[in-house]
Amino acid sequence: MASIELDIAPIAEGQSITIKWRGNPVFVRHRTQKEIDEAKAVPVTDLPDPVARNANVKEGDPATDVNRVVDGKEKLLVMMGVCTHLGCVPLGQQGDYGGWFCPCHGSHYDTAGRIRKGPAPQNLPVPIYAYISDTKIRIG
Ligand code: FES
Repeated sequence: MASIELDIAPIAEGQSITIKWRGNPVFVRHRTQKEIDEAKAVPVTDLPDPVARNANVKEGDPATDVNRVVDGKEKLLVMMGVCTHLGCVPLGQQGDYGGWFCPCHGSHYDTAGRIRKGPAPQNLPVPIYAYISDTKIRIG
């Protein structure tokens, strides 16, 4: 199915938008330095799901913050907006870890979209995406 291009320039720091791709929501968040620092400070051994779940890195790579983005461009986080528990759409900038909160059964994701607490078994998956310019990405 078709890939989509997204102009990321209008997304302000601290802002998260939701777009649709292949019939599913995709979260695109321009993270603040604080959010990145918080995500980086967490040891992978503390994560319920220690695997990156990023289609752009090697399968099974650890869920470090840098492995949740592409090309070292850590400001932008791109993930499927579908809870890995039973498929609800988590709410942004909420929950105990400042990332996303799924109100259906109480899953908390952090600022790298990694599951931290609640019934969801896996981190929010990162789809294939690439930068086609400094301000544009292609998803898919
Ligand atoms: Fe998200 Fe159950 S669907 S916690």
